[in-house]
Amino acid sequence: MTPAEQKKAAAAKAAEYVEDGMKLGIGTGSTSEEFVRVLAERVKGGLRVIGVPTSERTAKLCTELGVPLTNLDDTPHLDLTIDGADEFDPALRLIKGGGGALLREKIVAAASDRMIVITDATKKVAMLGAFPLPIEVIPFGSLATVRRVAEVAKAYGCEGKIARRADSYGEPFFTDSNNFIFDCSFGRIPDPDGLARELNLIPGVVETGLFIGIATLALVGTSSGVDIIE
Ligand code: 5RP
Repeated sequence: MTPAEQKKAAAAKAAEYVEDGMKLGIGTGSTSEEFVRVLAERVKGGLRVIGVPTSERTAKLCTELGVPLTNLDDTPHLDLTIDGADEFDPALRLIKGGGGALLREKIVAAASDRMIVITDATKKVAMLGAFPLPIEVIPFGSLATVRRVAEVAKAYGCEGKIARRADSYGEPFFTDSNNFIFDCSFGRIPDPDGLARELNLIPGVVETGLFIGIATLALVGTSSGVDIIE
């Protein structure tokens, strides 16, 4: 199977974990969009669920396909979140935020009893860091914030280019919460737990794309099927 087919297969498998009456967190990205398509078919068939989308982009697709939506103010406790990832390691630590939705993704996952990650096989790594780590930063004083990010990262064995994300017109990319994202090309992150903990203490850092201790299961499309990793 190609990576695109693997994403579809992982998304289809994830739908098997959805039960009638569940309150769902719904992720962002191409794999999550495959999941929304499968979920929408099940909703058409009579499945009763309600979802909290993790981005405006996901909300739009859910609305187009008829998946009922709510928000965390009305529904603060969710049963299950299903979302993609940019990388995951053997301890199910993730890098997320390639699609720029890491803040809402983490809030929604944290409000859920369980988070299932759906990916293709290319996302599985022995050590996190080949994918640039996205960090969401308040625009005010962002260069000062990022200077501190670089210092903290260095103390945790991470060095490399840190670049503010731009949109397809070369303008600054703004998240759904109107913040910047800085992508940190570290290559390797030897201590993701320590790095995440310290980065979150820096004033101006809103969130990092390191999801630690949040995912409970990964459904990974492979050339021959879907691996289930706990
Ligand atoms: C968005 C994300 C996505 O889950 C991640 O980028 C994976 O995307 P895709 O499913 O398109 O490979 O974290 O912020």
